[in-house]
Amino acid sequence: MSIKEIYIFGNKLVIYELDDVCDSVSGRALTGSWIWDSALLLSNWIATHRQTFEFAGKTVLELGAGTGLPGMTAARLGAKRVILTDIEPLVPGLRKSVEANGLGERVWVSRLVWGCDELPSRLVESGEVDAVLMSDVLFDAEEMAGLAKTLKEVCGEGTKVWAATEVRESTSDCLAELEEEGFGIVELPSQLGGESLDCFDNFAVFQLIPPKQTQFEDHSAQMEE
Ligand SMILES: C[S@@+](CC[C@H](N)C(=O)[O-])C[C@H]1O[C@@H](n2cnc3c(N)ncnc32)[C@H](O)[C@@H]1O
Repeated sequence: MSIKEIYIFGNKLVIYELDDVCDSVSGRALTGSWIWDSALLLSNWIATHRQTFEFAGKTVLELGAGTGLPGMTAARLGAKRVILTDIEPLVPGLRKSVEANGLGERVWVSRLVWGCDELPSRLVESGEVDAVLMSDVLFDAEEMAGLAKTLKEVCGEGTKVWAATEVRESTSDCLAELEEEGFGIVELPSQLGGESLDCFDNFAVFQLIPPKQTQFEDHSAQMEE
């Protein structure tokens, strides 16, 4: 296990990366064991746009959280409740990071396998989810039906869903699958603090519009400024 200190807009977050959890079939390290650049992008992006979407008092869900940086950033930005979710082997590392940052009161960790698991009871108890955060989860088109099912279950009429991703060959296939499932997709400018950082040139931030939010007219205006 290694410990990283990450600064998001001057706010320090301690992240535990795991080096001892492997997929039981392939034997390979689980991809959520370490922080991906998309997580850095999404964390900086929500901090940059914090005046457009006010996290204070909000309930936030992170799917495929891995090491949970965006969700914990949302907590630092004032979210009253954050639920970090991923597959079971990643739950202990997430719990360690939450504790290390002193966020145990407001940030919960739960197993959630897209499309398979029932929603965690604490998520159901929390009521409407105001925002869903996802970083680097758009890499396998075959996983998108499950992800879409979970998103449809958790999203209410006002839920905002943001996904940051490195743009790879598989990205458009994943987005096409989500569109098939009825989601609207809006690519948002991935500028940080007024400048587009070179290191994120090949990355994008998308807003996913859940099928039930058909009354929304102008999603592109959200979180752009
Ligand atoms: C590339 S990693 C990104 C991790 C983290 N969000 C980040 O950006 O650092 C993809 C994450 O999605 C999770 N994931 C993939 N398929 C999943 C599924 N069916 N259900 C739940 N989580 C899944 C993985 O366990 C992993 O944590």
